[in-house]
Amino acid sequence: MAPVREVIICANWKMNTTPADAGRLAADIGAATEVADVVRVICPPYVCLHAVAGALAGSGVALGAQNVHAETAGAYTGEVSAAMLAGLAGWVICGPSERRRDQGETDAVIARKLLRCAEHGLRPILCVGEQLAEREAGRAESTVRDQLRATAAELARHRGELPAGLVVAYEPVWAIGTGRTARGSDAATMAAVIRQALAAAGLGDRAEQVPVLYGGSVTSAAIGEFLAEPSIDGALVGGASLKVDEMAGIVARAGLTAAARGAVAAR
Ligand code: PGA
Repeated sequence: MAPVREVIICANWKMNTTPADAGRLAADIGAATEVADVVRVICPPYVCLHAVAGALAGSGVALGAQNVHAETAGAYTGEVSAAMLAGLAGWVICGPSERRRDQGETDAVIARKLLRCAEHGLRPILCVGEQLAEREAGRAESTVRDQLRATAAELARHRGELPAGLVVAYEPVWAIGTGRTARGSDAATMAAVIRQALAAAGLGDRAEQVPVLYGGSVTSAAIGEFLAEPSIDGALVGGASLKVDEMAGIVARAGLTAAARGAVAAR
């Protein structure tokens, strides 16, 4: 029987909120999203982690960081290591397209971030996805496959492997922050590509247990199309995750999927 995968909604606040207002927003989202069996994660900016941790205590909402450095420690001014995050955050977003674009993060650098996460028990959400030109050239699938292959190759070079608890987010770059979403069926096709690539990269049968999220202009109106696909296990939400009502709608829809999966598993 196919494994019952978790349903996960992860908020990525990006460079928004301040320590003064982040706690309040997190508490409001927590209260508005109390839905059984949906894993909720909020990733505020680093400087808001402490405030959000306090606001989320006892809420059942997990805390994540938006980034981690690829090295363990040392002369990296302004950077934050996995050891610094351990005990504060439980999750880390690794390799989102904005950091690939703006900070020049390569698959190799991102792979080392996965290693740092594994060393400190942090759950990585590994982001992959193609550019518009790559999709238009019919290379969307090979781009994502190559990203995962390069990531796994770098892990192997360090005698590492894909970490337990890995989550992969499929985020077509052209859908991020644009108001334009992929089609649910395209996301499902990509989820299959991702699990095949993970299986080939050493996970074997365990690849079927890896949650695959969709990200890119997800809203409460758009989420249903993605969660209607059995291979999609939730969403990585940017802009809409700053709005309490949007998060309430998104998590409510995710709750329907979680309940349906639970009912199938109980049969
Ligand atoms: P968006 O961002 O929802 O604002 O498109 C998604 C992401 O970057 O994870």
